[in-house]
Amino acid sequence: MEYTDILIAPEKRITLSNCLPPPNSEETVAEIIQGINSVPPYIPSRFFYDGTGSALFEEITRLPEYYPTRTEKAILRENADLITGDLENADIVELGSGDCSKISILFDAIPAKRRETISYIPVDVCRAAIVKSAETLSRKYPEISIHGMLADFLKHLGDIPGENRKLICFFGSTIGNLDPVQTSRFLLNISKEIQEGDQFLLGLDMVKDISVLEDAYNDSQQITAAFNKNILNVVNRYAKTNFNPLLFDHFAFYNRAESRIEMHLKAMEEMYIASQYLPAPVHLEKGGTIHTENSRKFTSGDIREISELTGLKLKQVYSDNRRWFSLVHLVR
Ligand code: SAH
Ligand code: AVI
Repeated sequence: MEYTDILIAPEKRITLSNCLPPPNSEETVAEIIQGINSVPPYIPSRFFYDGTGSALFEEITRLPEYYPTRTEKAILRENADLITGDLENADIVELGSGDCSKISILFDAIPAKRRETISYIPVDVCRAAIVKSAETLSRKYPEISIHGMLADFLKHLGDIPGENRKLICFFGSTIGNLDPVQTSRFLLNISKEIQEGDQFLLGLDMVKDISVLEDAYNDSQQITAAFNKNILNVVNRYAKTNFNPLLFDHFAFYNRAESRIEMHLKAMEEMYIASQYLPAPVHLEKGGTIHTENSRKFTSGDIREISELTGLKLKQVYSDNRRWFSLVHLVR
């Protein structure tokens, strides 16, 4: 595995490590091609997040219909003192850190003197997101050292550095974007990484009224539609495909049996998807769909099951009045 250490601003105590293969590597291209060549075709949702995708996701988090971000932030604000109470000489690891705006809420709750003893390790597949947020955070909290990791949280948890006690944060219900096998493997890996005295903070979007769920993924400004279609630009760049995003409709609905929002792209006309890496062009008929994302919604039973899978102790579940979102605090 290629592993480079890029110092982006040593004077500001920021470093960036890269565990990812290049976007046009055989491994990455093979993963995309396998999805497009499946019946029905799919694209792994990790490929949403190039610079444009991350910026569109940030826009989504500010939409009136997209309740998860503001709900989780309110829960964090209300419980930040409790969560950070004894954090000192610790590493705060954030998986799928995105714009890092949630971690600021925890930093604000830690007195400046104690913040000097904290390292922050954002882990994300999006370089643009990590660099931008590390720079913003280092301006706001110059006393915290930041070690960004360009890495896949499904593959590289074992590469996370640090000898100190850890608080691992996984916000946004991003765990809901994993399939059941990935979820179990991920939780087992978390269990291996979490040592005596370490903590795990996991954000989960809960099952609720279908109209609230479906509106959150079908916003009136169509930012989610733009986010969904942008995945085709990413795939075109990485796997040299010839998708025209303008020929697809955004299609999102709640699958009650699977307890998840599904996002698809629906072809507005018949087409053939070609790439030098595909054995033959893939035929998509008019109305044919490409599955781009699952976003699982959880129940209190799921929280118990997740806690059991990690083998950690359930310290507390923080939530909002409507029980729309849960922040699960687990400890070893
Ligand atoms: N935690 C933030 C961002 C959520 S968006 C929040 O709660 O608002 C999901 C983030 O996870 C994106 O920044 C995306 O780039 C990152 N991501 C998606 N799949 C990933 C993977 N397999 N490994 C690491 N990061 C991933
Ligand atoms: C990052 N993830 C948890 C978001 C979600 O809600 O599943 C991604 C997203 N997809 C559409 N809107 C937001």
